[in-house]
Amino acid sequence: MERLQKVIANSGYCSRRKAEEYIAKKQVTVNGEVATLGMKVSEKDIILINQTALTKEEKEYFLLYKPANVISSVKDEKKRPTVVDIIPTKTRIYPVGRLDYNTTGLLLLTNDGELSNFLTHPKNEIEKTYTAKINGILSPSEIMELKKGIVIEERKVHPTFVKVKKINQEHQTSTITIGITEGRNHIVKKLFAHFGYKVVKLKRESYAFLTLEGLKEGEFRPLTRKEIKKLYSLR
Ligand code: URA
Repeated sequence: MERLQKVIANSGYCSRRKAEEYIAKKQVTVNGEVATLGMKVSEKDIILINQTALTKEEKEYFLLYKPANVISSVKDEKKRPTVVDIIPTKTRIYPVGRLDYNTTGLLLLTNDGELSNFLTHPKNEIEKTYTAKINGILSPSEIMELKKGIVIEERKVHPTFVKVKKINQEHQTSTITIGITEGRNHIVKKLFAHFGYKVVKLKRESYAFLTLEGLKEGEFRPLTRKEIKKLYSLR
């Protein structure tokens, strides 16, 4: 038996938050009765959302090299292109976490709610690496401080590594690679903003053991069975 909102999310129908909304709005029934948030259901229960039966979709997993100027969500109110628009599939895939509109790089998309929840939960500390170009040059003491960890909105961010790759003295810019094990929105930009620098270009290079190898910006590929298994084995 599992909680209803989890079962709905795991079916690929929608996110867990959206499932909770449907339940709260009394749009979900279980065996003909209006459902309640947190109720436990089993495989045998008949779940309807807005009178439509919940069916299990085939699980799909994609690795996208997100281009800039594409939004990391399923739909956009401002009708901007989304990452989901890039991938031709009939299943309800959605991005695992987010990259900012102007950030490029590795983004996973799936309809596997269970895996997505695991990968994005802060306690699981999945490493993501980024290359950031900033409008300044970190001083040695700033690099030390960054390596030691910085408190952002009352929680410490402890980079797994920090490496200065390039310094342009003439333009006073630098390129830094950094590893982060959490997924708060705009986290890399906030880290550099702590020192007063602006991130002018940001690319996610890797997600756990996955990289962008073989892909150009805007391209995607399905994950292999081996990769899916390996992501599950991180649990
Ligand atoms: N950190 C950011 O600031 N932006 C991203 O898109 C990802 C991580």
